Amino acid sequence: MQSKQSMHGSWANRWIFILAATGSAVGLGNIWKFPYITGENGGGAFVLVYLVCILLVGIPIMMGEILVGRRARQSPINAVRETAVEAGRDPRWGLIGWLGVLAGYIIFSFYSVVAGWVLHYIAGMGTGQFVDIGSDLAGKKFESLLASPDQMLIWHSVFVLMVVVVVAGGVNKGLERATKIMMPALFLLLLVLLGYSFNSGSFAEGWSFLFSFNPDALTWDAVLVALGHSFFTLSLGMGAIMAYGSYMGKKDSIGATVLTIGVLDTLVALVAGLAIFPIVFANQLDPGAGPGLMFITLPVAFGQMPGGQIFGFLFFLLVGVAAWTSAISLLEPATAWVVERFGLKRLHAAALLGFIIWLMGIASLLSFNHWADIKIFSMGIFDFLDFITANIMLPLSGLLIAVYAGWVLTQKMTRDELALDSSVAYSAWQITIRFIAPVAVAVIFVVNLYGKLA
Ligand code: TRP
Repeated sequence: MQSKQSMHGSWANRWIFILAATGSAVGLGNIWKFPYITGENGGGAFVLVYLVCILLVGIPIMMGEILVGRRARQSPINAVRETAVEAGRDPRWGLIGWLGVLAGYIIFSFYSVVAGWVLHYIAGMGTGQFVDIGSDLAGKKFESLLASPDQMLIWHSVFVLMVVVVVAGGVNKGLERATKIMMPALFLLLLVLLGYSFNSGSFAEGWSFLFSFNPDALTWDAVLVALGHSFFTLSLGMGAIMAYGSYMGKKDSIGATVLTIGVLDTLVALVAGLAIFPIVFANQLDPGAGPGLMFITLPVAFGQMPGGQIFGFLFFLLVGVAAWTSAISLLEPATAWVVERFGLKRLHAAALLGFIIWLMGIASLLSFNHWADIKIFSMGIFDFLDFITANIMLPLSGLLIAVYAGWVLTQKMTRDELALDSSVAYSAWQITIRFIAPVAVAVIFVVNLYGKLA
């Protein structure tokens, strides 16, 4: 079975895989969420904890996902089942794959709504609607977007369509081609914005906010947020990376590849922070503004700065590209599975799944206006979907993947698939995947849930 190929194709080379996986990892999580949770949790100390989580939880679990995908060369649902059979275990472990694909599906439906806001802001920045506006007006503009289902529906539809088109193209003509164009564009935009913030923002202030270690700001809650985010930002727990891993070359080293992806993802988050905070500080705005940091605070900052219109436009373009390459990885696992299971053409599978996601997304976007009164466990639909995926489904399936790769698969299989150069490296992976990662994830899982529901 070792020389097996995926029926969906495979990446042209190792760097394409690295860039595609980085495209999945780098998304709204890095540019929208990371800066604002860093802002809310006091900066430097939080960043440090986040880095530790990436290293001790994120990296080992990502290795686990990729090794399962590459071993079986199938969509996550089938990959987990097949490797379980190979290890002589119960095929029902395949349920992990189900949980993941379902989570990805739900995430996509609301991710697309936020991505739709981003598209709206690209248009708004491009046409100069934010020049010289104050905080009040910026807040009102955002609220009026949320109050308008028609506007949101248009952008949500455009975004779903953009994603379906790429996934319908398949691994080589869709995903790979998109990666080749969009990832260099993404890095370039990021560097341009970093340069802008270096020249026009309060760079030193932004730098020290991100990197000065202030232990007083560190709370238990912040540790949990950091751990949860390390998961989300690396796209773990739903088979996205597993699906991408199933198209990976047999000889490529999983360890080195995953480290590269982890480093790139982290760099993008940090550079995004360095592009954003100096601009926020230069305009005497609040770094702890929360989710509105990107949609309210930043437009105010750009609106007041020389060249702000063009750089604001480029900024939202960057976020749009990042969200796009991430959403592709949210649709791919389910699409691959439908193709395998029902023999549908890829185009039909992607279009069908995209349509269902589009419908689900409508429920999310209506929850900001017409359906604002519908509550599930006292949360609106959008918040509820965010909550069950980010706080329940992802940690749960991440935990299961860690247990699965560490305990259920045989050591012979994992050793063979990882093919690490040294036995020290393999032992380090075993210790993290068997003990450190599951315990850490179990802790966030329980405490988070307790905190939310109690
Ligand atoms: N990692 C992406 C981000 O940071 C989001 C994402 C894409 C994701 N695929 C995922 C999150 C799979 C969890 C699981 O925005």
